[in-house]
Amino acid sequence: MPTPHSEPYLSANDRYPERSLQFDFVRATENAALSAVDWLGRGDKESADAAASDAIRGTLEQSDFCGDVVIGEGIKDNAPGIFLGERIGSWKFPSPRFNIAVDPIDGTTNISKGLPNSISVLAAAHVPHGAEAAMVNIPTFYSEKLAYGPAVVAAMAQDASLRFDLDTPVTQILERVAKALGKNVRQVYVVVLDRSRHAKLIAEIRAAGAALRLISDGDVTAAVSPSLFDTGIDLYLGTGGSPEGVLTAAGVLALGGDQQLRMWPRDDAERAEINATPAAADLRRIFYARDLVTSPSAIFCATGISDSALLPGVKLIGRKVITHSILLRSQSRTLRYIKTVHDLDFKTIRRSPDRKDHYV
Ligand code: FBP
Repeated sequence: MPTPHSEPYLSANDRYPERSLQFDFVRATENAALSAVDWLGRGDKESADAAASDAIRGTLEQSDFCGDVVIGEGIKDNAPGIFLGERIGSWKFPSPRFNIAVDPIDGTTNISKGLPNSISVLAAAHVPHGAEAAMVNIPTFYSEKLAYGPAVVAAMAQDASLRFDLDTPVTQILERVAKALGKNVRQVYVVVLDRSRHAKLIAEIRAAGAALRLISDGDVTAAVSPSLFDTGIDLYLGTGGSPEGVLTAAGVLALGGDQQLRMWPRDDAERAEINATPAAADLRRIFYARDLVTSPSAIFCATGISDSALLPGVKLIGRKVITHSILLRSQSRTLRYIKTVHDLDFKTIRRSPDRKDHYV
């Protein structure tokens, strides 16, 4: 019982507001996936992105938190999206403050072509009282990225000869990861985005003898996968979107894995732009996951739209729809897999443009 001189009673939800809000965040990615899947294979990326974005905004405006979108998407290709600087949540005083990173669809091209590997993904980091921010925005369009799981993190911490970073030659990275995992290099599974900019990287991985899985799009699933024990993926390597890198950081942190990231200006114009800002000082810096998501209270959640190594996609069976989501909380390192059955005769989604509930 609190005594008159004791600290005011604070429940676990008061101390860690993300503990209960996490279920609202995953409800938002579920609703985005349910809205986007309607556009699977229809060759219309924009409508899929707009449907997923409206569902996330609409769902979260009913949740009491003050969310600043610090990592948004959409600016990338002038597509619809949830944008940097946008506010989401109810913004009712005195709700807790969160920095939000969101990609309503990672793998929009995959959706438009009816291909696998698309998810809706969101990360939220509680901004503690007195702090400015809880996530770092990376201003370049692309970044170099290298992601690996907890066993590799532990091996590097114990044995300095196994350490590597983004400057280590690829062959050595693969040898050290193999050693850390007690495998030979042929048994190391690496995922890389299938892009011409990766021609040299792909040749090096093949020459080293590792097992390579090329993906057409969607590198958040690829980069989080090495941190999960049952995906069969050991390493993610290559240059991809910077917003996806910050989202990944929240995921791997909650799983004990890590990601290294460095800005990769795509041309001289972008380099000049960065050089004119304070971010220039960090152009050569290697950011680790903890440098990108600085709050200890962070959530990562994703719902499968089409099948990926991380999550099955949305399944329609009669009047029921099944979604699969992953929900991670960094403070407790809890990993939840959530299988939800939605009844189409009852299920509604609130969408942002008219702020009304719509049947799916
Ligand atoms: P979007 O679906 O959000 O457009 O991103 C897809 C994606 O494949 C990301 O996963 C990846 O980081 C990025 O695009 C790579 O960019 P690019 O297609 O320009 O190589």
